[in-house]
Amino acid sequence: MKRVFSGMQPTGNLHLGNYIGALKQFIPLQEEAECFFCVVDLHALTIPRDPEDLRKKTLELAGLYLAAGLDPDKSTLFVQSHNPAHSEGAWLLQCVARMGELGRMTQFKDKGKGSESATAGLFTYPVLQAADILLYDTDIVPIGEDQKQHLELSRDLAERFNRQYGKVFTVPEPKIGKTGARVMGLDNPNKKMSKSADSSFNRIELLDDPDTIVKKFKRAVTDSENEIRYDPQNKPGISNLLDIYSEMSGESVDSLVERYQGKGYGHLKLDTADAVIQVLKPLQDRYRDVMESGEVKRVLAQGAERAREVSGNTLQKVQEAMGLVPRG
Ligand code: TYM
Repeated sequence: MKRVFSGMQPTGNLHLGNYIGALKQFIPLQEEAECFFCVVDLHALTIPRDPEDLRKKTLELAGLYLAAGLDPDKSTLFVQSHNPAHSEGAWLLQCVARMGELGRMTQFKDKGKGSESATAGLFTYPVLQAADILLYDTDIVPIGEDQKQHLELSRDLAERFNRQYGKVFTVPEPKIGKTGARVMGLDNPNKKMSKSADSSFNRIELLDDPDTIVKKFKRAVTDSENEIRYDPQNKPGISNLLDIYSEMSGESVDSLVERYQGKGYGHLKLDTADAVIQVLKPLQDRYRDVMESGEVKRVLAQGAERAREVSGNTLQKVQEAMGLVPRG
């Protein structure tokens, strides 16, 4: 059976990009693979956080995993810091990774902006991500497009390690959706939807209420034409709405384009909002139930145990291959 690993940072609030690009993809994989889904709290520390907020967001993200349909009987759900193998593995891989390749990571360049005060953790962040993935002998990593470069690095590190020390790691493949891998900001369809964008009109958050969702779609930036056509280059706003609508309703973009011929942008915006509400409303109801049930901590404790067991085997092979004396 194939292994799947993916993770999400417990920072800000999850938005439609995270849902369509990643979380929604996780659900069917549970039926065909052995899945590990992680709340990557150690990655969140690379930018200074309020400790209380980080704790809260970590549990909330686990609650959203469950509410979205991840099933703890089928998948292992856990918090990264509950398995010390990730930090240990990251150190060992830092001794394989090179300064040059880490310096070329676009996310570091965007977030660190070359600043002297960026944390060292932000620089080595992709190596921790590689440890996450490689310690589980992962075959497939479902992610949005913005994580492609990090996945390439994980593959490079696995291959280099195997060449240098003998074959230990499985070389993972990314799984990036054909549509929805890059959901764009509603206020600026030339940039991806993001937790850190200044305006809340940039994104639909998974816990937004229906009125807010409608309001945000009504304000979505489009263009000055009046034709509904799929053309991401020239009509990024309308194409983004069509992508979102299609992903949330299951209707193809082609069929939507045909159905909306001669209709106005306002119509498309309201119907897209409605398709989003149809998916998010039941998710939000389940989320409230999950958070009230106290189930989250139990699921995470059970997940951490399984995660430690599986990753521990690989970590031991790595340590031995690199020349560390086995622990007595
Ligand atoms: P993070 O927390 O930024 O995002 C979580 C997932 O959401 C995807 N995503 C998007 N997809 C489509 N459109 C968007 N606008 C959009 N914004 C975000 C991301 O691609 C990601 O799949 N470094 C990772 C977390 C991580 C990880 C891992 C992922 C740590 N270890 C191991 C996979 C495997 C991150 O910061 O994702």
